[in-house]
Formats: sequence, structure tokens, C-alpha cells
Amino acid sequence: MKVTIVGAGAVGASCAEYIAIKDFASHIVLVDIKEGFAEGKAMDLMQTASLNNFDTKVEGSTNDYSKTKNSDIAVITSGIPRKPGMTREELIGINAGIVKSVAEQLIKYSPEVILIIVSNPMDTMTYLTHKVSGLQKNKIIGMGGALDSARFKYRLAEAINCPISDVDGIVIGGHSDTGMIPLTRLATRNSIRISDIISDERLNQVKEDTKVGGATLTKLLGTSAWYAPGAAVSSLVQSIACDQNKMFPCSAFLDGHYGLDDLCIGVPVILGKNGIERIVEIDLNPEELDQLKKSADGVKATNSMLDNLI
Ligand code: 2OP
Repeated sequence: MKVTIVGAGAVGASCAEYIAIKDFASHIVLVDIKEGFAEGKAMDLMQTASLNNFDTKVEGSTNDYSKTKNSDIAVITSGIPRKPGMTREELIGINAGIVKSVAEQLIKYSPEVILIIVSNPMDTMTYLTHKVSGLQKNKIIGMGGALDSARFKYRLAEAINCPISDVDGIVIGGHSDTGMIPLTRLATRNSIRISDIISDERLNQVKEDTKVGGATLTKLLGTSAWYAPGAAVSSLVQSIACDQNKMFPCSAFLDGHYGLDDLCIGVPVILGKNGIERIVEIDLNPEELDQLKKSADGVKATNSMLDNLI
């Protein structure tokens, strides 16, 4: 199983590290445009192999995509991250051109590849990849909901003061501060609805904290986060590489699902050896459906900016 990660910045490197440590891939190629940067990160990671007990080979490449040939899965993290006070949408002007050219290079050397998009604005970059790549729609996956759901679980556990492994919850909708929909109604602690454990007010606070999860970290760190994004990507890659058929909310191309079409937005999907094996349509109540429709309108408004950019 060969995995390429484009962008050896904090998110790309963290993603490579988690994949290597989980030891399910035979080969990771890390690509970056900065001379020697990916090679350096790859060498540093390889020097952790005997300490962390993995056999995955990690190789770096300065923009030489021939090294990515025959990748099974490729992750695109390229582009600029947001700075404090910026929205993800503000990155579109720079990141659209970068993501387009990276996707084209990857497909040139790996026509059968499954792509995972991380670059922001993520739902729009996933949609752009659909438009320019010619790949089947099950082979393009936007990472967002998996990360947002991990942040949701962190906030839920904090609110009820329990171990994170006790809680379950998902976030659907756009990967943006206003578009995310943490499904508080369905969140549980060991099958008990969390809405029966804490007040509506506290649950609403969890929802709001989750929505600005990325922005909160950007303010603290001065740039966007990397551990949870890297861990989320590595879980998606593992589900595909090991044909685990796990369910994650991911940005998928919708074709009538949830009454929406011609956009990529976060919904639960099953990830297996073919990428998106199935989009799962959960029973949303009218209020949640309305929120999803509004979130989709926001994503479509950002998508419409692509017309002037590519
Ligand atoms: C985040 O929310 C990178 O968009 C990503 O941290």
C-alpha cells in the first residue's frame, strides 16, 4: 500500500507520522515544493522507526511527482493555512490553483489513486478536485467531518466530565465556523443521550465550541492545528487501506442525497478499499435538515468563486 502526502508542513508531517506509527502502509512518499524539506522530514521520521517499531518506508521528494507513481491513496494538504482571525474561505484565492495543479500531477502518475483533500476551504477544494480530475466520485474524499467530530467528542466529554472513549457524536455539514452541524440530539455516552445528562444551555455551548474548534486553536497557535487533522486523515487512510469499512463524516459529492446535489459537503460515509463505499443517509429532523440546507448554500456560495479562479 503506497500513500503519498503532498505538503510536508505540520499537517502533512503529522499525518505521515501517524500513518507510519500505525504500520499498515508499506511506503509513504512525502512531497513538498520547498527544497529538501520533505526529504528532511522523511529522514527524521525514518530515524524514529526503530524507536516506534514500524517498517513503513518514508521517502521525501522536492516536487518530483514521478516518485509518487502508482500511489493507492494520496492526501493533499498543500496550500496556505489560516492565520488568527481568518476564515477558511479566505484561503480560496491562493489554494485553488495549488490544489488543482497538485491533483493533476498526482493523477498523471497514479490514474487509479484515491484522493483525500485537507486543504482549505476543504469542501470547495474537494469539489474543485471533482471538477478537474475526472476521477470517479467515490475516489475523492474531503477530510473535515472526521476532525470536527473528534473535536465534538472532546467537548462532549469535557462537558460531562467523562473519558472521551465513552462518548459518541458526529458533525455534518460544511467544514467552516458557520457551516458545521454538531448533531447534539444524537450524541451519546454509552448509548445514553447526552441531552438527558446536561442542560440545553451546556449542550449548546458544546456545539458552539465545536464549531470554532479550528479557530480557537489557530488563535492559540498562531497557525492552524495539526495533531487532530493528521490523526483524522490517518484514520481515513487506514479505513481505506485496510478495507475496514468504518463510518466517518467526510465531504462527499452529493447527487440527491439529503435533497442536495452538485456539491461536496460533510455527511456520514463508509470508507473501504474503493474509497467511499456508500453515503449513509441518517434520519435528520426538520431543523437539522434546514441547517444542512443552509450549510450547503454557504458551501455553494464559496464554490461559485471558483469560476474566476480556475
Ligand atoms: C482545522 O480545522 C486544518 O481546517 C483544519 O484545523
